[in-house]
Amino acid sequence: MSNIDVKGNKQNWMYSDIVKDHFFNPRNIVEKDSPNWVYNGMGEVGSPACGDVMKIWILVEDNRIKKCGWKTFGCASAIASTSILSEMIIGMEIERAEKIGPGDIVEKLGGLPDNKIHCSVLGDQALRKAIINFKEEYA
Ligand code: FES
Repeated sequence: MSNIDVKGNKQNWMYSDIVKDHFFNPRNIVEKDSPNWVYNGMGEVGSPACGDVMKIWILVEDNRIKKCGWKTFGCASAIASTSILSEMIIGMEIERAEKIGPGDIVEKLGGLPDNKIHCSVLGDQALRKAIINFKEEYA
């Protein structure tokens, strides 16, 4: 499916099957105000593009992310992006997790519509803040 935007450009609004799967079955989502497990890093960001909010909690042990949970007031793309990000980083060394960027998330999702790329940035930035929080307060 494609639409024409206000500048007359063709926009692609198709979601990949991977995006749909993670939107309808989000992994590692936190249903309450905080996880029911012990964490040692938390990051929260708001999107200047849309006003949506993302929170990520991590448990780091032996320099690796053992657990990751997240919660968002965001769109389907933000949900799918952060769901797949949470799967990508569990078990990963924090130095490697810090290097994951929106491009890696979008690639894993099999792409996102152009107008939705900013949604993948939310989880990425919240994770970065959670790692900073871990390093400053718990490491
Ligand atoms: Fe706000 Fe996607 S439109 S996160």
